[in-house]
Amino acid sequence: MGLLTLDVFNVRNIVKARIEPAAQFNFIYGLNGSGKSALLEAIFLMGRAKSFRSTDLSKVINFNANQFIVSGKVSQAKKNNTTIGIQYHSGQLVTRIDQQTVKSKASIAYCFPLQIIHPKSYRTLDAGPQIRREFMDWGVFNLDPAFLSIWRRFKTALTQRNAALKNKVLNEVRVWEPELAYYGTIVQQCRCDYLEQLKPYFLLVSEQLLGITEIEIKINAGWDAAFTYEQVLHTSIEKDLRYGYTRLGPHRGDLSVLVQKRQAKDYVSRGQLKMLVLALSMAQVLMLKENNQQMGCFMIDDLTAELDRRSKEKVFRCLDDMNVQVFLTATDPESFKNDLPKGNHKMFHVEQGVVTEA
Ligand SMILES: Nc1ncnc2c1ncn2[C@@H]1O[C@H](COP(=O)(O)OP(=O)(O)OP(=O)(O)O)[C@@H](O)[C@H]1O
Ligand SMILES: [Mg+2]
Repeated sequence: MGLLTLDVFNVRNIVKARIEPAAQFNFIYGLNGSGKSALLEAIFLMGRAKSFRSTDLSKVINFNANQFIVSGKVSQAKKNNTTIGIQYHSGQLVTRIDQQTVKSKASIAYCFPLQIIHPKSYRTLDAGPQIRREFMDWGVFNLDPAFLSIWRRFKTALTQRNAALKNKVLNEVRVWEPELAYYGTIVQQCRCDYLEQLKPYFLLVSEQLLGITEIEIKINAGWDAAFTYEQVLHTSIEKDLRYGYTRLGPHRGDLSVLVQKRQAKDYVSRGQLKMLVLALSMAQVLMLKENNQQMGCFMIDDLTAELDRRSKEKVFRCLDDMNVQVFLTATDPESFKNDLPKGNHKMFHVEQGVVTEA
């Protein structure tokens, strides 16, 4: 699976661009502010129908235009190619798969699963827990299609219980509890199973990238795991009423990485932290592939910043072994040229929003 063609209209400073990416490595280079991240943003829109930089999609539209369009052809294993189209105009997002309008962003995500590492991703292990929950849930979502409906039911029950807590309607709070406890417990179980399965892949990639073998991932349920979620909801009702929301549950869940039994975020260097985040993401992709799930593409924005030459070589080698379509950006083409993989690759130059194959 991978992106065969991409057409971009009015995404940031890219007014119009068309690329035909290589099946494996795509190196994108250009000066600061040339439009490299904008190009990755366009690809990300194709697979997620959202931006990784702005929650407000109107910010993505080129200053001189009133809409943006991204469309492309994606090859699928054992199926015909799929065309995906994303258009944003007057506050409305329209997503199409093979010319048919689709309502759910999940359909797009299943059609073209992608993962990105961008400068903010490197805070995965030391920023707030939201980014780590998204990491786990992306993994579970792609591995187990049943997770989406469980997640939605959990969110609905949580929203309803929170509304009842805010309005201080005790009966209503109790009505939503069994459903919240039931789906919340499954969400936590899915995350646990997922991380358990991910561990060997993470160990393997961490050893390849960092030479670290004594490494662990620990999950935090979002409540005291000595009790069931049902018990916890029941005993915390008074406090929740006072606060006006559900304080405990998978929406407070988290994960941590320990290196030699110490919290990685407090001990390893910045470059090592960056490599650990890469290892986590690459482990996810490897595991998906080993489970015969499709992977659309893997993107790394600004890979070479802060990484030394040897680290960069190791990342390239790992990416080569992963055998997925990759998009990498850097300001300097030399940072790729010394270590070009033997496999199929293309270079793209971006200059003031104009993308050309180099
Ligand atoms: N809505 C918009 N319309 C037009 N231009 C925009 C818009 N939003 C941002 N820009 C500009 O687009 C340019 C490209 O930004 P982008 O982040 O893609 O650059 P980059 O090549 O990734 O740079 P860097 O190497 O610094 O990361 C910037 O100069 C930015 O100011
Ligand atoms: Mg950039």
